[in-house]
Amino acid sequence: MSRGTANPVLPFSVTTHPKIRSRAVSSAAEAAGAAKIVRMPLYICGAGGVGREALDAALAAALDVTAFLDDARAGEKVRGLPVLRPADVHAGDYLVGIAAPTARARLSRILDDLGLRAVTLVHPRAVISPETTLAEGSLIQANAHVSSSVTVGPHVQVHYNATIGHDTRLDARVSVYPGANVSGNVHLCADATVGSGAIVLQGLTVGPGAFVGAGAVVTRDVPADTTVVGSPARPLRRD
Ligand SMILES: CC(C)(COP(=O)(O)OP(=O)(O)OC[C@H]1O[C@@H](n2cnc3c(N)ncnc32)[C@H](O)[C@@H]1OP(=O)(O)O)[C@@H](O)C(=O)NCCC(=O)NCCS
Repeated sequence: MSRGTANPVLPFSVTTHPKIRSRAVSSAAEAAGAAKIVRMPLYICGAGGVGREALDAALAAALDVTAFLDDARAGEKVRGLPVLRPADVHAGDYLVGIAAPTARARLSRILDDLGLRAVTLVHPRAVISPETTLAEGSLIQANAHVSSSVTVGPHVQVHYNATIGHDTRLDARVSVYPGANVSGNVHLCADATVGSGAIVLQGLTVGPGAFVGAGAVVTRDVPADTTVVGSPARPLRRD
């Protein structure tokens, strides 16, 4: 897993992360001193809602996106960009902008195998606190606040206005939807999702593949592959 400062795409303007700031300085110095800078194409995989929101984050960070990658819409133009098939690209950087963790897993594997490199995209209006690390492929959206000493795994998504408390761990492909509040010392296991406006209380574990419904208040650990709703959150019954 790569650390925050090792990631090739990090917008710098408003983040409070001191390591990110120092990378911005070194990038500017490199740019000033280098005669030739070869920029890799940047692809967003998925031309649906999350993909287009990822494009917004890239534009806010003054990054050029080359194309969307999306089998279902190949040949179209979306937001003025061409849509290519993932199998048609062979070099460059990518971010998977798709909500479903299973699709994120499948497509990141395909693109890694093709030799592309996953990058981290942080909206300039997100806050990333000190000692927090962001793995490759993560998307941190506008007005998200990721607090101190948080570990963000690969291909994680933290959406608009969500907050992640100190010392929390987000494993691979976790999704935190808009306006959710994850408290401190929480562990969100791989492929877990926290729905819009939900709250996860401090110190709890949300198991692999679990889904916290919109607006739920999680007061106990959530078992793997379980959907919980309500306040206090309870497993969704499907009678
Ligand atoms: C929890 C969730 C995954 C369940 O989805 P589902 O399996 O399709 O469930 P259904 O819509 O069939 O609803 C089943 C029952 O659960 C209830 N329910 C669904 N979501 C609920 C929620 N978040 N809180 C409370 N009850 C909920 C429904 O009212 C329904 O109850 P009923 O059987 O008495 O009518 C989904 O409703 C949810 O909350 N998704 C998160 C949405 C979100 O945050 N989107 C953000 C996108 S940016």
